[in-house]
Parts: sequence; C-alpha cells; structure tokens
Amino acid sequence: MILVTGGAGFIGGNFVLDWIAETGEPVVNLDKLTYAGNLETLKSLDSDTRHVFVQGDICDRELVDRLLAEHRPRAIVHFAAESHVDRSIHGPGEFMRTNVEGTFTLLEAARAYWGALEGEAKAAFRFHHVSTDEVYGSLAAHEAPFAETHAYEPNSPYSASKAASDHLVRAWFHTYGLPVVTTNCSNNYGPYHFPEKLIPLMIVNALAGKPLPIYGDGQNVRDWLYVKDHCSAIRAVLQNGRLGETYNIGGWNEKPNLDIVHTVCALLDELKPDAAGSYSRLITYVTDRPGHDRRYAIDARKVERELGWRPAETFETGIRKTVEWYLANPEWVANVQSGAYREWVSANYAGRDAKDSHA
Ligand code: NAD
Ligand code: DAU
Repeated sequence: MILVTGGAGFIGGNFVLDWIAETGEPVVNLDKLTYAGNLETLKSLDSDTRHVFVQGDICDRELVDRLLAEHRPRAIVHFAAESHVDRSIHGPGEFMRTNVEGTFTLLEAARAYWGALEGEAKAAFRFHHVSTDEVYGSLAAHEAPFAETHAYEPNSPYSASKAASDHLVRAWFHTYGLPVVTTNCSNNYGPYHFPEKLIPLMIVNALAGKPLPIYGDGQNVRDWLYVKDHCSAIRAVLQNGRLGETYNIGGWNEKPNLDIVHTVCALLDELKPDAAGSYSRLITYVTDRPGHDRRYAIDARKVERELGWRPAETFETGIRKTVEWYLANPEWVANVQSGAYREWVSANYAGRDAKDSHA
C-alpha cells in the first residue's frame, strides 16, 4: 500500500480516487481536514477497505511513525500543504508550519522507516514530493517556459514555503540517500476544487449572480492542467522517475485569467443560461494581489522524454468537464461553503476596491 498525505484536498482527493480505480492498491490517507480537506470528495470509497482514512497532522511525528510501522507502505505521496497564495498573504504562519515543518517531519519519519527496511522493500521505497511551478517565480512574456534547471525565485509566502520544502527533499536525497522524486506542477483545475481558487470561484459566483473578481488587469498568465492529468503524471513519476530528480508537469495551456473567465462564462451561458443575460456581465476588476506573479509556463518535455507522459485533456475538453461537474454537484459546493468559507471570502475581497465592471 501507499501512504498519501493531504488526500482529502483537491488534488490529493482526485489522486486517491484515481489511484484506487487505476491500480487497486490500498491507500492510507493522512489528512488534518483543514478548511480545504473534505471527506465528501471521498464518499464513493466509504465502504471500500482499500481506503483507510486517518485524521491527523503531518507535523505529528509520533502519529506518522505509528502509521508507517502499522501499514508498512511502499511509498509516501506527499500532497498535504497550505495551498492558497491569498491566504499566505493574509497569514503566512500556517504555511511555514505545514509546508516546511510538516515536510521536515515527514522526511525524518520516512528516513527512519526506510533506514530499517531491507532488500527489495528498501530498494523499492519512494518519497514523492508534490510541488508547484510557483517556486520558479514569474516569467516575462518573452521568456522560455520553466525547465527543471530554472533558478528558484519564489515571490509569495506560499511559494517560499514550497521552495523551502523542495530544498529539504533535495537535501534528504543528497545527504541521507532517501529515495525521493519531486514533481513541480502548474495550475490544476477540475472536480472537487475548493471555490477560493480562480476557476471554481468564478463558476460558483456566476451561478449565485455575484461579481467575478478579476485581480489587476486580468492579463496574468497561468498554465492550466486538468487534475486527472496531474494524477497520471504522478503515477508515472512514482513508478519510473529517476531518484533525486525533479519533473515539471504542465498542460501546454498558457492562458490569461480574463480568457479563462470568459470561457467559463460562455460555457455557463450555453449549459445554464441566465435570463438576466451573459454571466460575463458580472466581471469586475478589483485591486491586484500583492506580489502577483505575471506569468507561469511549464516546459514539460523532460517528463515526456523520459516517461512518455503527456496530458490527455485539452483545455477545451477539461474546462467543459469541469463546468459540467459543478453544475451536476451543487450539494458538494453547498457543503464546502461553511461559515469559515464565507468569512474568508469577505476577508479577501472586502479590502479590494472594485475598479470597474463589464470587461
Ligand atoms: P488543497 O488546499 O486543496 O488541499 C490540501 C490538503 O492538505 C487538505 O485536505 C488539508 O486538509 C490537508 N492539510 C493541510 N495541512 C495539513 C497538515 N498539517 N497535516 C495533514 N494534512 C494537512 O491543496 P491542493 O490544491 O490539492 O494541492 C495539493 C498539493 O499540490 C500541495 O502540496 C500544493 O502545493 C501542490 N500543488 C497544487 C497545485 C494547484 O493548482 N492546486 C498545483 C501544483 C502543486
Ligand atoms: O501554479 C500552481 C499554483 O496554482 C499552486 O501551487 C497553488 O496551490 C494554486 O492555488 C495555484 O496558485 P494561483 O495563485 O495561480 O491560483 P489562484 O486560483 O489563486 O489564482 C489564479 C490566477 O487568478 C492568479 O493570477 C490570480 C487570479 N485571481 C484569483 C482569484 C482567487 C483573480 O483574478 N481573482 C480571484 O478572485
């Protein structure tokens, strides 16, 4: 079996569902269930003995040691993190604790566990660290996409904490020989995405007739990847990735935020027309995010060359599936819109002046 951390979050949840469907191999899922963790995502596994859920903190060394000793996993796939850039600006402390101290704690527990393994079990063990393209900083319009050799230039408390965790993982490989692989992925989207992030926020706000807040001029570029493609990339790297290597994962799908929001509105106009007119009437420019990275783009040639991985979805197919999923799952959305969610939305958007509407 494998141990997954953060498997009740957006990508971790999709990964657990995918992993069990694709491989049938059992998963122990360690997740603290912060505001971003949601067991509803894993409801279809309720009576499936291949999924063992443990609510707990990756910073709890005793708990991690106990889980490793009890379940003897052949790999750890580490997703658990504080993941939202805006939240890291409002309060960076939890990002340092979970992303840096939590990764350190896991690495130490993994080192002790792996050190005591023998023979084939020792040779086969893997620690897969799931990271982000944000560690590389921001690209100008003319610059080449991020390759694995790009300098680390994190600009937000979130990306700095992820960069620190990547460095720890690298050091545990070089110093202790811990068998690690790291993936640095671009922006994911798809089912079960918490509606604080751009795409699900726009879908949920549009359906509620609320403003669609565009930071700055809406021309910041992200490289979007359908979440199931990220899951298949992780499976490929976990299985055949070279030890100590990093692999950049991306969708070859660079798009400015405004284009993304117009695409979402057009799909909603088609699938759930609003008598008041196109959802794009709700587009509202608001004060920019401090330190907002202008452009991310991933050069995903290494993972294709070495492991034969390429995304299966285009943006057009993936975004349609995503909008359809949100329309078909209003109860999942309603369940995550707790009081804490509403408090976050007012904390993040109250201080931003609306600049203009109707883009
Ligand atoms: P998410 O915020 O949706 O989920 C994070 C999960 O981790 C939640 O279930 C949460 O309860 C859990 N968690 C948080 N702190 C914990 C702790 N101390 N102990 C145990 N569990 C804890 O995040 P996501 O978007 O699914 O991202 C998952 C990973 O992928 C993160 O490491 C993130 O940096 C990375 N990543 C995300 C994206 C993206 O576009 N979302 C892209 C590239 C990389
Ligand atoms: O690149 C990978 C990263 O992608 C991951 O490491 C992060 O965990 C993940 O959250 C994501 O970070 P971003 O900051 O790119 O994602 P977010 O959805 O918050 O924002 C996407 C873009 O949309 C960004 O340029 C900011 C903009 N935006 C976002 C929100 C929430 C808006 O214009 N309005 C908004 O209300």
